[in-house]
Amino acid sequence: MSESFPAFTAEKTDDGFRRGVTELTVDDLPAGDVVIDVEWSSVNYKDHLAATENGRVARISPLVPGIDLAGMVRSSGAAGIAAGDQVLVHGYDLGVAHHGGYAGVARVPVEWVVPLPDGLTSHEAMVVGTAGYTAALSVLTLLDHGLESDAGTVLVTGATGGVGSMAVAMLAGLGHTVAASTGKADAASFLRDLGAAEVVDRAELADASKPLQSVRWAGAVDAVGGAILAHVLATLAPGAAVTASGNVGGAELPTTVLPFILRGVTLYGIDSVSTPIGRRREVWGRIATDLKPAGLDAMAHAVDLEHLEGALDEIGRGGVTGRYVVQLRN
Ligand SMILES: NC(=O)c1ccc[n+]([C@@H]2O[C@H](COP(=O)([O-])OP(=O)(O)OC[C@H]3O[C@@H](n4cnc5c(N)ncnc54)[C@H](OP(=O)(O)O)[C@@H]3O)[C@@H](O)[C@H]2O)c1
Repeated sequence: MSESFPAFTAEKTDDGFRRGVTELTVDDLPAGDVVIDVEWSSVNYKDHLAATENGRVARISPLVPGIDLAGMVRSSGAAGIAAGDQVLVHGYDLGVAHHGGYAGVARVPVEWVVPLPDGLTSHEAMVVGTAGYTAALSVLTLLDHGLESDAGTVLVTGATGGVGSMAVAMLAGLGHTVAASTGKADAASFLRDLGAAEVVDRAELADASKPLQSVRWAGAVDAVGGAILAHVLATLAPGAAVTASGNVGGAELPTTVLPFILRGVTLYGIDSVSTPIGRRREVWGRIATDLKPAGLDAMAHAVDLEHLEGALDEIGRGGVTGRYVVQLRN
C-alpha cells in the first residue's frame, strides 16, 4: 500500500456538503506526468468558492481545492522537468477540476509546470501565488498600454486583498505613484508600507451615477468590479486604461459607452487561469526580478491544513489583509 499524506477535501454528500482534513495516497491523485511534494499553497478568493457548498467553482467532487502550489518534484515522466526540481503550478484546472494544492502531494500534467525562477523561494512564490500573478499580468498590461511612471497617480482597488496588495507593491516598486483604495479603516499603515502614496476610502469610489466625472487617475488595477469599476472608468484620464480581474464588488458594470467614446479609455480583461505556459513562465521570471514585491514576508500569514477553514471563511468575508499561505511540510 502506498504511503498516505494529509489533504483538505471538499465534497457534496447525500445530506449536503462536507469539508475537512483526511488522508489520501498517490493512487487517489488524478493522472499526470509530474508528482510534486507540495511545500506551500495559498488561499485565494476562488479557493473559498471551491470549498463552499454553493460556490459554483468546483467541477469535481470530492475535490482537493488549492489553485496554487509550490514544492519539489518527486518523480517526472516528462522531458525538461526532473526529480529534485523546485516548481510551482497554478491555474488551468488545478483546485477546481483536478486535485490542487491543499495536500502533501500533487500530480499534474507537465504543461502546467513552471520551474521556480531564481530569486524566489517556494514560500515567496506562494505569497505571490495566483493573486500576485494576476497583479503582474495587470501591471504588465498597463505598461504595454504605455503607462509611464511620471504619468500621474495609478489607482489600485481592493488594495488590502491578494491581487490589490501585490499590485500596490509592484507598481510602487517600479516607481509609480500609487493610490490604494480600501474598505478597511485600519489598513493605512499596511498600505503605506507596501508603497502606497495615498490611501483612499472605498466609499469615495462608490458613486457610479455619472459615467463621466472629474479626471483623477493615470491608470488603474481593479479586482473589485461592480460600481467601483464603473466609477474608475468615469474618473480615468483621457487615453488611460484600467484592468479588470475580479468581481468581489459585483459582476454588473453600471456604466455607458461615454468614457470609451469621449475619453478614449480602455478596459482590459485579465485572465490568470489559461495563460499559455510559455507566457506564464516568462511572467514568473519578471515576478522574480523587476516586479518582485518588496516585503513579501510581511504580507504573509501561514496556516496549516488544520487551520485552513478559518482562512477560507475570512477571505470569503473580504476580511484578509495580505496573503494566507498554507504550509504542507516543515
Ligand atoms: N481574473 C483572474 O484570473 C483572477 C485571478 C485572481 C483573482 N481574481 C478575482 O479577483 C478578486 C480578488 O481576489 P483576491 O484573491 O485578491 O481576493 P481578496 O484577497 O479577498 O481581495 C479582495 C479585496 O477586495 C475588497 N473587497 C471585498 N469585498 C468587497 C466589496 N463587497 N466591495 C468592494 N471591495 C471589496 C477587499 O479589499 P479592501 O478591504 O482593501 O477594499 C478585499 O480584501 C476576486 O473576485 C477573485 O475571484 C481573478
